[in-house]
Amino acid sequence: MTIEATAPPVPDFPMRRGCPFDPPPQYGPMREDGPAFRVRLPDTTIAWVVPRYDDVRRLLVDPRISSDRTRPGYPFLTEDSRYLSKVRVFVGMDPPEHGPHRRMFIPGFTARRIKALRPAIEENVTQRLAELTAGPRPADLVTALALPVPTLAIAQLLGVPDEDYTRFAALTGGLMTENPPRELFDELLAFVRALVSAKCAEPGEDMLGRIAAEQVATGAMSVHELVVMALLLLFAGYETTANMIALGTLTLLQHPEQLAELRADPSLMPAAVDEMLRYLSIAELATCRTAVADIDLGEGVVIRAGEGVIPLGASANRDPAAFERPDEFDIHRTERHHLAFGYGPHQCIGANLARLELEIVFTALIRDFPGLRLAVPFGELRFKRDANLFGVHELPVTW
Ligand code: HEM
Repeated sequence: MTIEATAPPVPDFPMRRGCPFDPPPQYGPMREDGPAFRVRLPDTTIAWVVPRYDDVRRLLVDPRISSDRTRPGYPFLTEDSRYLSKVRVFVGMDPPEHGPHRRMFIPGFTARRIKALRPAIEENVTQRLAELTAGPRPADLVTALALPVPTLAIAQLLGVPDEDYTRFAALTGGLMTENPPRELFDELLAFVRALVSAKCAEPGEDMLGRIAAEQVATGAMSVHELVVMALLLLFAGYETTANMIALGTLTLLQHPEQLAELRADPSLMPAAVDEMLRYLSIAELATCRTAVADIDLGEGVVIRAGEGVIPLGASANRDPAAFERPDEFDIHRTERHHLAFGYGPHQCIGANLARLELEIVFTALIRDFPGLRLAVPFGELRFKRDANLFGVHELPVTW
């Protein structure tokens, strides 16, 4: 059931960030006022947002909420996400269907597999930084570093052959420009189709090759389904990580004392990366759900079956009930229970790959560029405020 748009006036959602590092200013008062609030989505339907840490975490493991985009009442935030909902991928499945699909990909993300990607990611970062050094100043860190790092990591994960890498990078990079032409998406689709067909013909040791041999060759999965899964990994792991590289760099530049500490002691980097993930919470809108049964959140608030629910990870990550001094960026924070990668059955499958990429890139960048600084006033930066993922369009830097 979708609540009629004629309900009493409710605030519009998504709400906008004020300070780009902080979640929208309305979240703090909401956390104090109640467990859930009605909001109006861009398509004028009404859904609930849930601001408190404990409620968000509880809801994300509650079998009474569904990730199935085909259920009436699912809260779509953009027309693109409504369009993509027609594609069946495990991020949009519920138990018991979700588990077996997700498990096919788990072997590709084990600690051993991710560790094996380290040398290639490090070499890529070294090359990108060498190009940056040799190139003109100022430079845009988004195109020079933030996009190329996850491009290579995902190409490695999917087993893109070396000879096809330049084209793959051009297609994915092109899609990150503002308003990319539709043909570019079609070209990427054709590229991934050809890649999957090649894996089916000659399965190798990489993730797609293994799934092709185990699932497609046995008839358990169609070629089309594997194409769709490969695209899911690409879209889920690319812009997220790229946005974190650019915004994480910006966060460090805004906290020069902590940046100096990290430069002096790189062993602090893993904790710093998790703190960036918590502090920036770029993907909070990734966890939209629909209630499939009534959910009593207390304080007189009952979410009814069929209503859309958006647990607000960015609000949860700034909840003073869960984190001390939640609005401070502090690389020495010991609590690592943030929800930047979601929580529960759909918790990000690529979290360890993302962490590895971020650790490698920030360690090398701050080591090799001691004079790194913004090349434009902070106020001139253009942030991705209307997108599902928070980010920055360009990051002009000099050194
Ligand atoms: C799921 C965030 C990187 C693949 C998620 C979810 C979040 C998230 C919040 C939960 C969605 C939900 O509950 O519905 C992030 C962030 C990243 C990142 C902030 C980077 C810093 C990656 C990477 C990959 C990846 C590198 C793979 C290459 C996925 C997949 C899912 C997912 C496949 C769906 C899991 C499922 O439904 O079982 N991510 N992600 N992500 N992520 Fe990530």
